[in-house]
Amino acid sequence: MYKIEDLLYMVSLHCPGECVNCSIWKEDKKSITKNEIDLNLFEKVLQSDTLKDTNYFDLTAGESQLSPKYIEVIKLITKYKKDAFIHTNISGWYPKKHYKVTKEALKYITPKNFRIDIALDGREENYSKVRLVKNGFKKAIESAKILKKLGIQVRFIMTLYKETYRDLDWFIEFCNEMNIGYYIGYPRASANYIKSDSKIDYFNSNEIEWIENKLKEIGWLNERRIANWLWAKSTYENNTPYFECLMGERHIVIDPYGNVYPCNELMPSLFMGNIKDYDGDLDKLLNSQKAMEVVKFVKDKKCQPCGMLCAHKIEFPWGKQSGLID
Ligand SMILES: C[S@@+](CC[C@H](N)C(=O)[O-])C[C@H]1O[C@@H](n2cnc3c(N)ncnc32)[C@H](O)[C@@H]1O
Ligand code: SF4
Ligand code: SF4
Repeated sequence: MYKIEDLLYMVSLHCPGECVNCSIWKEDKKSITKNEIDLNLFEKVLQSDTLKDTNYFDLTAGESQLSPKYIEVIKLITKYKKDAFIHTNISGWYPKKHYKVTKEALKYITPKNFRIDIALDGREENYSKVRLVKNGFKKAIESAKILKKLGIQVRFIMTLYKETYRDLDWFIEFCNEMNIGYYIGYPRASANYIKSDSKIDYFNSNEIEWIENKLKEIGWLNERRIANWLWAKSTYENNTPYFECLMGERHIVIDPYGNVYPCNELMPSLFMGNIKDYDGDLDKLLNSQKAMEVVKFVKDKKCQPCGMLCAHKIEFPWGKQSGLID
């Protein structure tokens, strides 16, 4: 039943922050890192049958490159998966650290198989309304410049918040000038992961129309990306339809404490098991009654309506999300 194509491992939720639309930074470092798993369990996970064809690894959470585990995780992935592709999201606020860690990572993975996405939510005056770290904008750009020199894939990601969406033209021009790829994301609330709850200021119909026209004008809404925008739009309009979700069967998330979920919504009702309780035997965990019930729960759409906009193994009434397109 399982065909896990990619794995998201939340290396550590610690993040010194701070942002307006994500509250991870509010958690105290000691308590948020206290129960993180021992990496020998992650090593066992990597040897499971269920992951034998898994090649895409997303290493994220809070600010994962600040974690002492980050390099160890890269070493383990590349020990068991020779052609692994690894992706990490960063704020870019620690240029020297990002550079040092990435350079170290390149002892184990080739630059073409390593991508780092740096958050750049608009031009400096608007960026600083949603990302509050002093000189954060300048640091993010410095990180992009130095990481690019290492020959890895670097992209800027702009999440279109109310405070920043009108900077979309600026963003694309800026990325083009810097010769850096880009990605456009849409804001969402998440009570369990980014703990943003309902405080995100969503868009009204005029703003939705403006964004949609702009995305069309810049040629963003191609076959791979249109489904994601229509999903985001449906959440802002509060009319998300029910859809077929293959998260859990085709993709899993392991949080820093070893809890396994189908997606990073991290809802208690989607908890499949903890790898500590299975001594790292992921096959056993995924075939447990608990995990099977979660897969059925997802199939029966009991966790919908859903606005977990970064889930990618989904078929909407209007088409497939990118993770189901070859
Ligand atoms: C939670 S962050 C973790 C990585 C890193 N700390 C960063 O800021 O990029 C992962 C991604 O989620 C995005 N993000 C944060 N809050 C969000 C929200 N409320 N809605 C949509 N995306 C959000 C960030 O911009 C980033 O691209
Ligand atoms: S979006 Fe990233 S940098 Fe901002 S608080 Fe969340 S984890 Fe930290
Ligand atoms: S429907 Fe949403 S909450 Fe449920 S598994 Fe899919 S992405 Fe996660």
